Amino acid sequence: MSGIQSALHPAGVQAEHIARLWDVFLWVSVVVYVVVLAFLAAALLRRRPEIVPNAVDPRVRSAVSIAASITVLTLLGLITASVFTSRSIASVPEAALQVGVYGRQWWWQVEYDDRDKSKRFSTANELTIPVGVPVTLHLQSSDVIHSFWVPNLHGKRDLIPGKRTTLTIRADKPGVYRGQCAEFCGYQHAKMALWVNAVPAVEYAQWVESSRRPSKVPSTPQERKGQQIFMSSPCPLCHTIQGTDANGKTAPDLTHFASRRSIAAGTLPNRRGFLAGWILDSQHVKPGNFMPPMVLEQGEVEPLVTYLESLR
Ligand code: CUA
Repeated sequence: MSGIQSALHPAGVQAEHIARLWDVFLWVSVVVYVVVLAFLAAALLRRRPEIVPNAVDPRVRSAVSIAASITVLTLLGLITASVFTSRSIASVPEAALQVGVYGRQWWWQVEYDDRDKSKRFSTANELTIPVGVPVTLHLQSSDVIHSFWVPNLHGKRDLIPGKRTTLTIRADKPGVYRGQCAEFCGYQHAKMALWVNAVPAVEYAQWVESSRRPSKVPSTPQERKGQQIFMSSPCPLCHTIQGTDANGKTAPDLTHFASRRSIAAGTLPNRRGFLAGWILDSQHVKPGNFMPPMVLEQGEVEPLVTYLESLR
């Protein structure tokens, strides 16, 4: 699973403002620290003057006022820098592209909305966006407070039950950026990651095109058997696979599951062995998640995994 997660490697316009502000704070703090320590060292090394009770040396008085003024000016400077950064971050215009992001315990539901209902589609734990285009995310939560944070692209924004918040991001470099829920939201808060794929416009259009298509029809006996196992198990009660009878709404949409890079919100790489382990005993991998353990007959796991891994 590639992609660095770092606020100091900005790949988007807002993250760049934030990284610049970080540099200002860092270097100002370094200078202040060095100066304070230098004065401390000088004071310790100096011979102590005789102490005269009730008398304040006028030089001490002016030194204290100068130091206080410098401190106030430095703090004002930092506040100003911070205000300007907030302004430039907020000045990114509302985008043409709108995506719904729902925080769930403990995964991300991603909804690509469209006026035409037949063009809507849903995915999970992965957000694909075109490079250089502002994208407004509509953030909502259906359970507890989560926080959307993709450090390479922007700061954090909370997802609050009953309240819709928005965040506009713009990736300026193509790449894969890791994001993480940044608000403690229960047992598996740490395993609530997502990936942002920033791709060129042409690739984005192709991706949308293929995401709108219903799931791939099984083409081998093994895949057909896997689909039957899936449909006769409890899986369709929670998961949707477009083009089949599975239309559960409480768990990730699996229509194009095989094209995603991870299982269970960044917990495992999306590969056969991991998928089999996840299906058989997801509670061992991510305790407390809402997927119950599956009771499968011998010989049922292979075809089921084959079918799921065919859903490109
Ligand atoms: Cu969701 Cu922490």
